[in-house]
Amino acid sequence: MSEAKSLKIKLHNGIMMPQVGFGTYRIQDQAIGVKAIAHAINSGYELLDTADIYRNHHIVREGIKQSNKNRNELFITTKLWPVSKDIKIYKDDFGVFLKQLDTDYIDLLIVHWPLPFGKVAYEAAEQLYKEGKVRAIGVSNYNKKQLEELISSVEIKPMVNQIELNPNAIRQDVVDFAKANDIAITSWQTMMEGKVSELEHFVKLSQKYKVDSPAIALKWAIQKGIAIIPKSVTPSRIETNLNDLALFKLTEEEIEMIDNLSTEKGMNVDSNNYISPTPATERVF
Ligand SMILES: NC(=O)c1ccc[n+]([C@@H]2O[C@H](COP(=O)([O-])OP(=O)(O)OC[C@H]3O[C@@H](n4cnc5c(N)ncnc54)[C@H](OP(=O)(O)O)[C@@H]3O)[C@@H](O)[C@H]2O)c1
Repeated sequence: MSEAKSLKIKLHNGIMMPQVGFGTYRIQDQAIGVKAIAHAINSGYELLDTADIYRNHHIVREGIKQSNKNRNELFITTKLWPVSKDIKIYKDDFGVFLKQLDTDYIDLLIVHWPLPFGKVAYEAAEQLYKEGKVRAIGVSNYNKKQLEELISSVEIKPMVNQIELNPNAIRQDVVDFAKANDIAITSWQTMMEGKVSELEHFVKLSQKYKVDSPAIALKWAIQKGIAIIPKSVTPSRIETNLNDLALFKLTEEEIEMIDNLSTEKGMNVDSNNYISPTPATERVF
């Protein structure tokens, strides 16, 4: 077993979350998606990251079925889209997720965006947690202020904040606040959809360690104690994004150098200003 497959982060409620997961954003084609997800599981990924708005729960379900693992050997994260002020809507939606994923529980349920009804969605997640239907709850794309506000007004502190975090978007204030409050950070687009290969420092490190540049970005996050969820539908990338992590270790100086690269200009999202579209497509079973 490679090092990365066995890495876990202990959430503040004691649940162990795999530190390396498989992202599924933009996986829409059933045949390609099922194959990729089954291949990811068979390669050693134990966490699958999906969301209601990705409209691919059914593809995740079939990927699991075609893999060599059972659902209870895997960790499924999915996300509520907070567009309703009615808590019942989220609980009904959750029932739909269970059917789509063919499961009777979710490992981690997170509120996808800090939109105005984020707190209502979070309260639904709290209720589902207390009912034993989800093993952990969290949020996504919350900045420091939004996290502070949420924590001060809810009963259960989020266990995870999933944020855009990569060499162009370090978000140190959010990471420091989360660490101080025992909230795990999961990074999305850690390898900037492969674009880290265009950064000079990454090219040099990739030559030094004889791995592709995306592996350098993924390892940088891992060594900082951050969870990662790289996505790929390409079999070779699915494998290297996981297996290359065991081949090398960055020095403290190299981690610091990457930390200092960010101008924060590469951020795709700003949680203060983001106005998101309502998911419009039909749900698929
Ligand atoms: N919470 C949120 O708001 C949020 C937002 C965005 C994403 N996410 C989650 O985070 C996951 C990761 O983010 P992401 O999918 O947007 O971006 P990503 O994982 O950084 O990049 C995925 C893209 O990079 C390519 N790629 C994968 N491995 C590569 C490699 N080794 N070398 C070069 N290119 C490579 C993939 O192409 P191929 O597939 O063609 O191989 C795909 O186009 C998502 O899938 C999703 O689960 C969450």
